[in-house]
Amino acid sequence: MAREKWASRLGFVLASVGSAVGLGNIWRFPFQTATNGGAAFLVVYLVAVVGIGIAALLAEFVVGRRANLNVIGAFEELGHPNWQIAGAIGLFGGFWVLSYYSVIGGWVIRYTLGSVFGGVVPWMGDPLANPVEFFGVASAGPDAVAFHAAFMVLTIGIVAFGVEGGIEKATKVMVPSIAVMLAGLAVFASTLPGAGAGYAYFLSPDLGALLGNLGNVIPAAVGQAMFSLSLGFGVMITYASYIGDDDNLGTDGLSIAFFNTLIGVLAGLVVFPLLFAQNVSPETAGPGAVFVSVPTALAELPAGSILGLVFFGVVLIAALSSAISLLEVVTSYLIDNYAISRPQAATGLGLVIFVLGIPSALDTAWLGWFDGIAVNVVLPLSLLLVVVYVGWVLAGDALDEVQRGTSGAALLGPLWLWTVRTVVLVAILGTLLLGIRKLLVNGGLIPPF
Ligand code: PHE
Repeated sequence: MAREKWASRLGFVLASVGSAVGLGNIWRFPFQTATNGGAAFLVVYLVAVVGIGIAALLAEFVVGRRANLNVIGAFEELGHPNWQIAGAIGLFGGFWVLSYYSVIGGWVIRYTLGSVFGGVVPWMGDPLANPVEFFGVASAGPDAVAFHAAFMVLTIGIVAFGVEGGIEKATKVMVPSIAVMLAGLAVFASTLPGAGAGYAYFLSPDLGALLGNLGNVIPAAVGQAMFSLSLGFGVMITYASYIGDDDNLGTDGLSIAFFNTLIGVLAGLVVFPLLFAQNVSPETAGPGAVFVSVPTALAELPAGSILGLVFFGVVLIAALSSAISLLEVVTSYLIDNYAISRPQAATGLGLVIFVLGIPSALDTAWLGWFDGIAVNVVLPLSLLLVVVYVGWVLAGDALDEVQRGTSGAALLGPLWLWTVRTVVLVAILGTLLLGIRKLLVNGGLIPPF
């Protein structure tokens, strides 16, 4: 059977934006910003996206499009079978991440449903009525396992329909909805009394504080940029393997990074005014910011339940359009290599990933452990290998591939290649070493038995 393809270039871009925009933007970004000095973090994050993220994204695109194969097979196809290990680590990472990403996706389903039915279905609970208690019940235990299963079923359902019929069709609706709904919420948030203080916190950097804390802020911001662009887990390699030769990878990469950043910033423009309006300190909100502080703030507002429905609805769509990209990485590998149908592959894999996520659904300590290993070790390790491969092994071929479909841009290609070989490589290596160090210091390498 012929390998699948995107129906259109826009479809590829939207699917990639759908992958990039996810819990990373709406849940992780606000609390990373808050724990790393507010606007100062935003500045470093933007620099990291432009200086490192886009070049690394192009490196993944180059591998995927040149090979037209899944994340492991690609390296063999390009003539370097030993480098399949880079793809294997990424594939493993995608599997690993989806296990707990889906658990959080399950929480979001419950929050979305609870915003609507919480008042009428007592078992469901209303997230706005008692946010702390609701988070406790929703985040760990049998309920969390059940909603994790529901989220996985939705993910499998989309991936089973294929690249064009499932992922492309779904993300064409999902991505614009996310943008419109978030923009609406941001406009609404601007009318709240605390909005000004929220903007100040988010948008005016304290350069003194930044310079004093660069050692923490830089790795956090680079890590956030990479996670947010869906790098390191084979997603962008896999998605690019479904595109045609005549696309301009550079402009596609730029648009994806631009929209991803835009939606991250929009999320900040929703979350920070909400928190400041209710005098919730963003630093103390931590990872619970979106799940506890936002409902607390919404509860005070007229029509809070409707706002809750819209807010958590956005988070749900964003999470789902990222989860399908993670499942697609492994699904693609299976159907490229074995005589197995797409629905069978997606279902079987989804089931295994569901089981792997059960510990995270039962205890958030497990979720934190899975996340720590994924973001601090697996992601930078796999991305580092891809970057070394593209920069130093594929080298001239990589340059040829990145320039395909461009008219001219003769200088930009070599500039990209040298950025990948030097700045990007060093930044990712540094992030990996600092990430491992962080886990050694906080005991994050040891599973929380
Ligand atoms: N980029 C996604 C987010 O921000 C997470 C993700 C990472 C998805 C890696 C796929 C691959 O939520």
